[in-house]
Amino acid sequence: MKTKILTILKEQPGFVSGQALCGWLGVSRTAVWKVIKQLEEEGYVIEAVRNKGYRLVEAADVMTEAEIGSRLCTERMGRSLVYLPQTDSTNIYARKLAQKGYPDGTLVVAESQTAGKGRRGRNWSSPAGSSIYMSLLLRPDIPPYCASMITLVAGMAVSQAVGEMTGLPARIKWPNDVVVNGRKICGILTEMSTEMESIHYIVTGIGINVNQQDFPEEIMATATSLRIEAAKKISRSALIACTMAWFEVYYDQFLKTKDLSLLKAGYETMLANMGQEVLVLDPDGTYKGICRGIDEAGRLLVDTLEGEPKRVLSGEVSVRGIYGYV
Ligand code: BTN
Repeated sequence: MKTKILTILKEQPGFVSGQALCGWLGVSRTAVWKVIKQLEEEGYVIEAVRNKGYRLVEAADVMTEAEIGSRLCTERMGRSLVYLPQTDSTNIYARKLAQKGYPDGTLVVAESQTAGKGRRGRNWSSPAGSSIYMSLLLRPDIPPYCASMITLVAGMAVSQAVGEMTGLPARIKWPNDVVVNGRKICGILTEMSTEMESIHYIVTGIGINVNQQDFPEEIMATATSLRIEAAKKISRSALIACTMAWFEVYYDQFLKTKDLSLLKAGYETMLANMGQEVLVLDPDGTYKGICRGIDEAGRLLVDTLEGEPKRVLSGEVSVRGIYGYV
């Protein structure tokens, strides 16, 4: 009911009478009043005028199930939504939901994480108040070797949503980071549960630096936030909803072919290193080359400086620009 009232208040430019809300929702005036009070406690500013009703004056950067739900325009992604004030890791939580049978597209969002996971066993610092920590549970009918492609699909969704909401040039640092002006604003961690040749489920975790105003010295040179780059506060709930909308579009394209052939051209327009010199940190030996894009399996195409074409597999290597992180 909270989501419905919030959605109605957002859609109406003026006052909505308490009576109309009761009629639409089939509940008592007291029930409506209680929800309005809850919304105010969460940070919304709602004007209440006798004989006129309620009017939403300001929607703060509230990140709750109702706020995210009221902004979603997807069919499946995020329609099953779990919001947690705190959890160990949204990826771990989503895995537990997967085992309980939650559907494809289930989204877990947390305000903070006590054991946020980064790639290569690293920790993902996850304090409350300014970031997005979310994980999508997916149940695609694809072979296990295709799972890593979902990271690229998620990267496209974040890059597109950030661009749309902030006007910033968000680019993908293949395979799992999104960067703005050469610094990281998002990391993606895809994990899966498989058996022989089939996938039980996939969990794609996305961490986005949204409203931080500063960073610890160790990562200041490589990390930034949308607020720092855009010089304005960004609504986390709106960004989550927008990312889900784009994810659904790209994911459906991906599912048609079970590879990236329909997304390759779009992906390459978002690729940070496209046409530039990169350093490939391959365990078998580091080499320099020119980044030529991706293939339909999501491998990075690199022509070595000696002219040999290589297909770089994610997970095997790390790719840098020759002058630093991007
Ligand atoms: C990386 O760049 O190393 C990937 C970071 C992924 C972080 C996100 S935050 C939400 C989800 N839950 C986790 O524990 N990790 C991912």
